[in-house]
Amino acid sequence: MITSSEFDDLGRNLPAGARHYRAFVGPSTTYDVVGALQFSLLIALGLREHHTLLDIGCGSLRGGKLFIPYLLPGHYYGIEPERWLVKEGISRELGQDLVRLKRPEFSHDSSFTLSTFGRQFDFILAQSIFSHTSKAQIHRCLEEADKVMSPSSLFIANYAIGEQDYEGDDWVYPGGVTFTPTSMSRFGAEHGLTMMPIYWPHPHGLSWFVFVRPGNESAADALAQQPVQLQQALAMCQKRLAEIEGHPYVKLGMWIRQTLRRRLTRSDGVVPPPSNVG
Ligand SMILES: C[S@@+](CC[C@H](N)C(=O)[O-])C[C@H]1O[C@@H](n2cnc3c(N)ncnc32)[C@H](O)[C@@H]1O
Repeated sequence: MITSSEFDDLGRNLPAGARHYRAFVGPSTTYDVVGALQFSLLIALGLREHHTLLDIGCGSLRGGKLFIPYLLPGHYYGIEPERWLVKEGISRELGQDLVRLKRPEFSHDSSFTLSTFGRQFDFILAQSIFSHTSKAQIHRCLEEADKVMSPSSLFIANYAIGEQDYEGDDWVYPGGVTFTPTSMSRFGAEHGLTMMPIYWPHPHGLSWFVFVRPGNESAADALAQQPVQLQQALAMCQKRLAEIEGHPYVKLGMWIRQTLRRRLTRSDGVVPPPSNVG
């Protein structure tokens, strides 16, 4: 049970995007589970302690507070333009002792310079990044990914699937952007990467995928199966249906239909068929 002072301290009363180390990176009520889902996904995809991980937009170490203790010293790298988030993540979630022991490295670059550490990575993570980026930022990120991925590296990311691509030039936050699966796959292909949709939960409906170099598709096989595409298509249809059902005209129509059905229902509970049915 969370006490009311803990509730305030954890930013639970603040909207996503507010200047609190938890709320800034998303709804603070799901801070714990979004961190755990990143960690468990990478473990399921084969992350082991000797691997190196680059966490793009690592924020306040929502995932980092689990990855850093798990990985061997010097194996976690984070990029985060907002210095204060990393500072708060260390002081309020990770602790200086673990920083001394595990020696994570951070960059505060804001141009997706993944090559800033001058090395390659076994795993790259972009959690809730492509749900805020412009196309140009995605291209810049993938151009840089090409420099830091070995033939066996996995680049794990998520995004909000939509029927339209975001066409703006700016990072959007709070709020988010959408891309179609076809576009996201094409962005990868333009940088020599194959996109493999994978099934993994996300409390805010983001869809996960892995970019791999051609020939390394089997690395994501365990989670990348055909039904994933169907599930993602279904999620998109459900979202669209909810939007349609929320439209005032549709709501009015549904209300009229229900009212008519109630009035037409006979006392024995049977709804008579429409008169044009032969
Ligand atoms: C929605 S938050 C997700 C943070 C983190 N991945 C997590 O799961 O907690 C997006 C993060 O991306 C960071 N960001 C914004 N522009 C960026 C850029 N150009 N490069 C890397 N990170 C960026 C933001 O400061 C923020 O911390």
